[in-house]
Amino acid sequence: MTYDFDSPVDRRGTNSLKWDLYKGKDIIPLWVADMDFRVSPAITRALRAHVDHGVFGYTLVPGELIDAVIGRLAAQYQWKIERDWIVWLPGLVTGINVACRAVGDTGDEVLTMTPVYPPFLTAPGNVSRELRTVPLVERAGGWEIDFDLLERAITPRTRMLLLCSPQNPTGRVFTRGELSTLAQICERHDLVICSDEIHCELVLDKGTEHIPTAALGPDVERRTITLMAPSKTFNIPGLGCAFAVISDKPLRRQFLRAMRGIVPHVNALGYTATLAAYRDSRDWHLALLDYLRENRDIVERSIEAMPGLSMRHAEATYLAWIDTRQTGMEGPVTTFEEAGVGLSDGRPFGAEGFVRLNFGCPRSVLEEALQRMLKVMKT
Ligand SMILES: Cc1ncc(COP(=O)(O)O)c(C=O)c1O
Repeated sequence: MTYDFDSPVDRRGTNSLKWDLYKGKDIIPLWVADMDFRVSPAITRALRAHVDHGVFGYTLVPGELIDAVIGRLAAQYQWKIERDWIVWLPGLVTGINVACRAVGDTGDEVLTMTPVYPPFLTAPGNVSRELRTVPLVERAGGWEIDFDLLERAITPRTRMLLLCSPQNPTGRVFTRGELSTLAQICERHDLVICSDEIHCELVLDKGTEHIPTAALGPDVERRTITLMAPSKTFNIPGLGCAFAVISDKPLRRQFLRAMRGIVPHVNALGYTATLAAYRDSRDWHLALLDYLRENRDIVERSIEAMPGLSMRHAEATYLAWIDTRQTGMEGPVTTFEEAGVGLSDGRPFGAEGFVRLNFGCPRSVLEEALQRMLKVMKT
């Protein structure tokens, strides 16, 4: 079966966060991380059947969905998990915040690396934890972790490392070696690792593999809260369904206690869509990766041709992290908006002078946006 990622879907007038920001304006929105594609036919079918049934009461997690998650982690990463280790969540950002609340006490520190998805930078403060950040470094091969800098930032009050793997916004897929070094540092300083792996099924480079942090071995598994979701890969973020995998029973109890009374159930349609995504959408997923890979290559080639702009190779995600600092632009987001392209500002990610471009859209739309950007860069 072939899937149509080329035909634009009109999202205007649907209360889309992404599109309504520029309501009535000729600005192509390439900012927030959802894609402008219809979901897989299997997801649509499953949701339709659920809606036709017409009852939307409190819903338990389907046993088949638990089997699907366990089977998927075993097949893709040789990571064997148990049913009890899974904690269902209505969103992954909820999981980041719950992890910050569950680990340590008021005034303890949470460490992360920038640039990073903005909720990493705000979650610690939401629960009176101190945020400590260490920059990723740009080396010839791309964005890398400076392990010395990271270890030197750890103090006796540091309790947790918040890790984004694969990394949003740089698109890095950390290697087994990098993750092992990180894990050793966390073991040496007895840190919990909260590993956000929401982009794990969006690895675009053939031959590059995602490695779940917890799958490195029993010691690191014990100290890791893994957060995953189908929402980015299968384009269902509006259906709110995510999960944590926590093998260590006391840590899992702490996490569940931190959720108590404030984290709602996953909605019934979220479970339905997630099951159809994981069990019945393999071909769609593979076709999506091919499409995104081509889009990524177009973006990289186009950015290279724009004087003053640069980006490192994005191994994963549908996000391009673009450096505008050589252009001397004061406000790159405003400049590109004026040219008709809506990008994410780097500042909330902890990196002024950068913009993030979401290439999860039909190729014709992407090419038009890149043309508009090129025009501005050449004037
Ligand atoms: C790294 C990362 N974590 C979490 C999320 C959002 O998760 P959710 O919508 O399930 O809260 C995103 C969305 O872009 C993300 O990139």
